[in-house]
Parts: sequence; C-alpha cells; structure tokens
Amino acid sequence: MGLRSGVAIDLGTVNTLVYATGRGIVIDEPSAIGIDRSTGAITAVGQAADSLTGKETQHVEVLHPLRDGVIADLNATAAMIQAFLARARVARGLGRKPCVICLPGEATTVERQSVLAAAEALRPRRSIQLIDEPVAAAAGAGFDLEAGVGAFIVDIGGGTTEIAVLAGGHVVRARSLRTGGNAMDEAITRAVRSEFGLLLGRDAARSLKMTLGLGDGTISQVETVGVDSARRTPRVERVSADLVAAAVEPTVRAIVGSVTELLADIPPNLAEDVFRGKIRLAGGGAMLPGLAYRIEAEADIATMVVDDPLRCVIRGAAYILEHGYEVPGTGVA
Ligand SMILES: Nc1ncnc2c1ncn2[C@@H]1O[C@H](COP(=O)(O)OP(=O)(O)OP(=O)(O)O)[C@@H](O)[C@H]1O
Ligand SMILES: [Mg+2]
Repeated sequence: MGLRSGVAIDLGTVNTLVYATGRGIVIDEPSAIGIDRSTGAITAVGQAADSLTGKETQHVEVLHPLRDGVIADLNATAAMIQAFLARARVARGLGRKPCVICLPGEATTVERQSVLAAAEALRPRRSIQLIDEPVAAAAGAGFDLEAGVGAFIVDIGGGTTEIAVLAGGHVVRARSLRTGGNAMDEAITRAVRSEFGLLLGRDAARSLKMTLGLGDGTISQVETVGVDSARRTPRVERVSADLVAAAVEPTVRAIVGSVTELLADIPPNLAEDVFRGKIRLAGGGAMLPGLAYRIEAEADIATMVVDDPLRCVIRGAAYILEHGYEVPGTGVA
C-alpha cells in the first residue's frame, strides 16, 4: 500500500507540533500567541510569544489558548493553528491532502467542531480526521495499531495525563487526568514562595522540576533566582531536592494511582501483552527525573520512557495519517 500524504497536528496545552509528509516535523513550538493590546492584531506566535509569558510587556498580551488539556479560547486556538500552518507553508504545498489533528481526550464535541471549523476555513474540503492523543501516543510508542496487540500508554503532558490500555487502535480502558507538568510547576512555585518568600517565574519553576524532579540522590540542591516577596527585588536561593520532590508529589501520586487502578482492571486476555510490552511513558512529563522508576516500583511492571517523548504523539499521528488508518470511534469530516 502506498503512503498517504498530508498534514498531522498535535495540538497540546504546552506545545503544538505540525508534521508534513515529505518534510517531517515543520513546527515544534509552544502553544502561544501574542496579541497587540490596542489593536487586537496577532504580533507573535509560538516561541516568540511564549518567551514573553509572565513578563508583563506593555503592548503584547500573551495567550495560551489551551488550558488543562482543553481549548480555553476557541478563537485564539484557531488563530494559532492558522498562523502555524501559514508559517510552515503547508497549506499551499499540500493542496487538498488529508489532515489529522490530535486533541486532548477530554475535548468536548463543541471544541472538536471548532477545531474542525478552523482547519476547514483554512483549507476547505480537505478531509480532516480528529484523533485522541492516547491512540496517537500508542502508535508513536511503537505499538502496532492493526494487530490488536495490548498496550499500556501513559502520556504526561502539560495540562493532562492520559492513561490508556489499548488493543490495537481500540481504547479498552482510559483515564484522563486534568493535571500534568503545569500543575507541578505551580506546586513548586507555591512551595518556594512559602518556604523562602521568593516569587519564581514559570521558567525557573520548570527548570527546578526538570533538574530535580522526584530526586535521584545525585543533586541535593539547586540555585534559583526569583523576586523577594517583601522587598520586591531579585534574590538567589538554594532550593533542596526534597522541597521539589514534596511539591510534585501530589501530581505524581495522582498519576501513579490512576496507573495502578487501570492495571487492576485489565482484561485477562491483554495481561501478557501489557506485561511484556511494558508501561510506556510519553509526553514531556515522562522525563521527570525518577518518575519511570516510581511507576515501575508501584505497578510492579517494567516501565520505560519512549524515545523522544515530546514527539511521540506527532510521530503516531504521522503514522496514522500516512497509513490511512481509521481510528475507531473518532470523527472524519
Ligand atoms: N525533562 C523534563 N522533566 C520534567 N518535565 C518536563 C521535561 N521536559 C518537558 N517537561 C514538561 O512537559 C510538559 C510538556 O509536555 P508535552 O509537550 O507533552 O505537553 P502537551 O502535549 O503540550 O500538553 P497536553 O498533552 O497536556 O495537552 C511541560 O509541562 C514541560 O515542563
Ligand atoms: Mg500532549
């Protein structure tokens, strides 16, 4: 069978990726747009917009149109997708080729229709297929969608964590938690504020999370710079691994709890596949230091982080696009 060509889009809370057949990943940028406060015009998209987050610029308002895994601002989401597609020049080159869009599993019918409408407006009469992230993540993690093979996939994104048991491309059991990397960043920010009276920016909190995570004993503390909450001037502080581990613990506990719950409910006919295929972690949160080890210890099943976890969903979406695979239970417009 020849490969189908077209465009695949992973619309994430934190990052949006676009894949075009023959060119590979053409967009891999934060899900953000910058709006001129006086005219309402879009002044920046992706990295250029996101880098201004929380910096209180006078003329530009930064929007992250997806929040907690759902589309919080429909117009901004549509504008963002259009700006990315225009920037990558995929709209012109691919004519009326099909387009696959991955959405958070929690997206409502209205949200799905809005994304469809936005994509349709850009390229009328193009066939558009919406697929749920866990199915794309499973394909990206190397599971065979056609063969009915059992798979256990955990996609830990910025706003959502999707945990799913699949048989081929069919979802057998799934949980979607509205928590992920962003919640960890916020918890670290709160902990540092209450412990040291220090206000951290988003990037500083993220960096503590990525460096220390659940703590593996190799690094005991890290320097961070924030603003003193009383004096309002910048100051440095040494933050311990224990403080960060305690801050991310509630999110980690929720994820691990859902993983073990889902494992306790696996149909016996899928048990061997899941056991041998391992629990596979995808999404940026999969890289949290110590997380794979923690899940493996509590689930008592081998657990691995997939290759390049931030690109797992787009890899799977590209596979689904190019193999013309119809994901059961999802809409084709
Ligand atoms: N090394 C790391 N350790 C821990 N977290 C990380 C690491 N690298 C990235 N992350 C986190 O991963 C998250 C982004 O992951 P990803 O791009 O998979 O999310 P998303 O697809 O945009 O979100 P969602 O799937 O929830 O809509 C961010 O919270 C980011 O801070
Ligand atoms: Mg995602």
